[in-house]
Amino acid sequence: MTVKVSIRTRLIVSYITVTVLSLGVLGVLFSSMLSDYLFTEQEKLLLSRGQAVVEIVKDVVQGRPLTFQARMVLENMSEFLQAHVWLVDRSGLIVATSSGSTEWEGLRLDVHEFSEVMNGTVVTRRGRSGRFKMPMVTVAVPITVGNQVLGALFMYTPVSAITQTVDHVRNLVFAASLFALVVSNLVGLGLSRSITGPLRAMTDLAQEMTRGVFGRRVPIETQDELGELGEAINLLAENLERSLADLQEEKDKFQSIVSGIDEGVIAVSKENQLLWINSQARELLRVGHIPLDRLKLDDLPVPLLDLSQKVNTTGQVEVLDISPFPMVVLRAYGSPIRRRDELVGSVILLQDVSEARRLENMRRDFLANVTHELRTPLTSIRGFVEPLLDGTVSDERTRGRYLGIVRDEALRLSRLIDDILDLAKLESGSMSISFDLLDIRELVFRVQNVFGPQAAQKGIELRSEVISPKEGEEILVFGDSDRLQQVLTNFLDNALRYTEFGGKITVSVEASDTRVIVKVADTGSGIDPEALPYVWERFYKADKSREKSKKGTGLGLAISRGIIENHGGEVFATSKPGEGATFGFVISRAET
Ligand SMILES: Nc1ncnc2c1ncn2[C@@H]1O[C@H](COP(=O)(O)OP(=O)(O)OP(=O)(O)O)[C@@H](O)[C@H]1O
Ligand SMILES: [Mg+2]
Repeated sequence: MTVKVSIRTRLIVSYITVTVLSLGVLGVLFSSMLSDYLFTEQEKLLLSRGQAVVEIVKDVVQGRPLTFQARMVLENMSEFLQAHVWLVDRSGLIVATSSGSTEWEGLRLDVHEFSEVMNGTVVTRRGRSGRFKMPMVTVAVPITVGNQVLGALFMYTPVSAITQTVDHVRNLVFAASLFALVVSNLVGLGLSRSITGPLRAMTDLAQEMTRGVFGRRVPIETQDELGELGEAINLLAENLERSLADLQEEKDKFQSIVSGIDEGVIAVSKENQLLWINSQARELLRVGHIPLDRLKLDDLPVPLLDLSQKVNTTGQVEVLDISPFPMVVLRAYGSPIRRRDELVGSVILLQDVSEARRLENMRRDFLANVTHELRTPLTSIRGFVEPLLDGTVSDERTRGRYLGIVRDEALRLSRLIDDILDLAKLESGSMSISFDLLDIRELVFRVQNVFGPQAAQKGIELRSEVISPKEGEEILVFGDSDRLQQVLTNFLDNALRYTEFGGKITVSVEASDTRVIVKVADTGSGIDPEALPYVWERFYKADKSREKSKKGTGLGLAISRGIIENHGGEVFATSKPGEGATFGFVISRAET
């Protein structure tokens, strides 16, 4: 396990170590050098003085008494050097001393104490000496007369003076060291803070950036490497923030473009994984509620997987028409997505072409129906005119009958063309409708009168009834009386055509305060429930094989619906097969 040690701790530990070590070594070296120096100086001093005095005090070791002058010199030196001074003869006998150590006079030194100096060499010694209780610096200078050593001058000064000085100096060094330690620690602390502070700030900033927060910058306090690093990090944050903002903006733009278009857009990876789908595509495919990560290409109600696989293999735009739901046709364009020439997936564009498809079908059907309906009477006319022309029909009655048929077919043709024109006008909105206030009851009575004889001839009872809040009141609507009569005529024409002898047809008006319902109910053959929704469509004929249907063109109800819708109303049809049918419309009642 690695222990986390902060830069600060490391810096401070190094500071302490370096100061303690250097000051310790310095202290030890310095005090030992100092004491060495002091000792050497003391020895030199003793030696030089001793050598100077030796000549003067020579007489004593030769057995002569010390002159007054010589004694003075000895005393002076002793005082000046703070030293005990002894004169010793060849045999080791202390013959004279300075006044501070007269108690030693007449004593004899041990051989080992003086044998070396008696050989003619100067002896220096430090440390304990047998005669004194404390450590001493001892210097012994031989006294020579001619070539002979006749005695020696011994000088002793106590070591304590020097060691005290050294101790004192050492204490000073120690105190100075402590002071230096404290100061250097404070400096180290400050320094480490000036390093770790900015580092901390930079670390915090970097961590914030990893969380996507870019607002902050590190303060630049110094112009050193840390300052440069801080500036670089600030610049990095700024650039990152700007790039991310740019990216976000691009993404938003892309999103708004893609969600703004009417087409559905789906992005698919090379592995046929769904990467992205816009709301239009969700709507078209009816998968609005499923989250993207749970949506699979396989689950979509269309063979989009095939399309994307095809695009992935061919690398080209592929088009596919699919019908995921009844009455819905989607056109899917799959195009490859390339990144640096490499195919990475595909984009599928979904277009709802149901309406276009429906219109196209309608137009085609309409054209087919129109030509068919036109051809029938024309064929018939040609069929009857030919024999008349080539003279195969000679008998007058048959000629008359043939001509009658030709006239009927021509009439039918012109009616058909009128109907088609009406329908075209209704659809293009160019049918002229002149709105007037009219009493709908009058309209009903008028058509009843028109169809009365026909009904009577077919043995059908034709009745009318009016139901309104107030009996006998006018029931006014705002409309075109010719056009509304055309609607009622269509209804009655159909009713008469599909009702057998002995049947009953009722034209009724039901008025409330705000609206009017006009109905034509018959007791005829009725219409199949499946066929009922389609009776209003152009050219629709319920039973194409039936003789009665054959006569019509299937445009009457379509025109009627167009007229009523132009009046702001609505048409309806109900039927019980075998029991009859009811056709009618609802329009607003005009305010009186
Ligand atoms: N009262 C009704 N009873 C039974 N079927 C009806 C009735 N009215 C309409 N239909 C059915 O609806 C179809 C469409 O009627 P529509 O009036 O539009 O055409 P049509 O009567 O055949 O021809 P047109 O009115 O153009 O001469 C008819 O062919 C018929 O099959
Ligand atoms: Mg009709």
